[in-house]
Amino acid sequence: MIEATDIHVTLGSRRVLNRLAFQAHPGQLTAIVGPNGSGKTTLIRALTGEIGFAGELRINGIDPSGLKPWDLARMRGVLAQSTQLSFPFTVFEVVRLGAEAGGYVGQAATAMTRAALARVDLEGYEGRPYQELSGGEQQRVQLARVLCQVWQADGPEGPRWLFLDEPVSALDIGHQLQVMRLARDYARQGGGVVAVMHDLNLTAMFADRIVLMEAGEVAAAGPVAQVLRPDILSRVYGCRLSVMSAATEPKLLVVPVTEAPA
Ligand SMILES: Nc1ncnc2c1ncn2[C@@H]1O[C@H](COP(=O)(O)OP(=O)(O)O)[C@@H](O)[C@H]1O
Ligand SMILES: [Mg+2]
Repeated sequence: MIEATDIHVTLGSRRVLNRLAFQAHPGQLTAIVGPNGSGKTTLIRALTGEIGFAGELRINGIDPSGLKPWDLARMRGVLAQSTQLSFPFTVFEVVRLGAEAGGYVGQAATAMTRAALARVDLEGYEGRPYQELSGGEQQRVQLARVLCQVWQADGPEGPRWLFLDEPVSALDIGHQLQVMRLARDYARQGGGVVAVMHDLNLTAMFADRIVLMEAGEVAAAGPVAQVLRPDILSRVYGCRLSVMSAATEPKLLVVPVTEAPA
């Protein structure tokens, strides 16, 4: 499990995260949602050790700041909001870097690289230069890389973790669903998934728990139906939103309420 308490982050002269508490459980997809600038990426970066913070963090019961980089790399993979590569790698090379970071070598790493590319619908892209791909294709390559790094969702040292910062923002609807299913399957296999999301309807379909952020603090956290409420959402997002429920999937639908013309 991930348990963070009383997290504070200051960047420059700005307090970006304030008194923040966060929990995520293995076997679940935990979604982080909230307006632009509310601190979602900063929270991911604090949880993954990329930036310093004040407060307490335990992942699988241990303080990750004490781990060696290679042990940390085998415990959790991170898909950043955007990734720039300055070397002319092929798709295969980028994904294989993940397998190697996860401690896999030789034939096993090669097989895993191919399997991961198939899972993000990029078979046949192995030899393509990464820099020539579209934004959405690059995002799926990066996801394949991260998947290879923490391939077994439930390892001998405990559950592994996927941190995904807006994994579907650049994707068409078909690939959005594919990537969300992949994330959910990882959780069902015993891993933990923490994903920053903008699409509240996709979030309603795939998340087990939601953490709603507002100006560096948690506005609401809990099961989907408890957080996706029109009063809370309308206030935090600053626009009128309605939540409809149905007996069949999707069980919850968040829709904007258009103002009647004057
Ligand atoms: N290096 C930095 N220096 C100062 N402010 C920053 C820095 N990085 C991010 N911020 C600010 O912190 C806030 C939260 O940013 P971020 O976590 O990226 O938001 P989100 O991912 O929710 O859109 C924003 O107001 C952003 O401008
Ligand atoms: Mg962000």
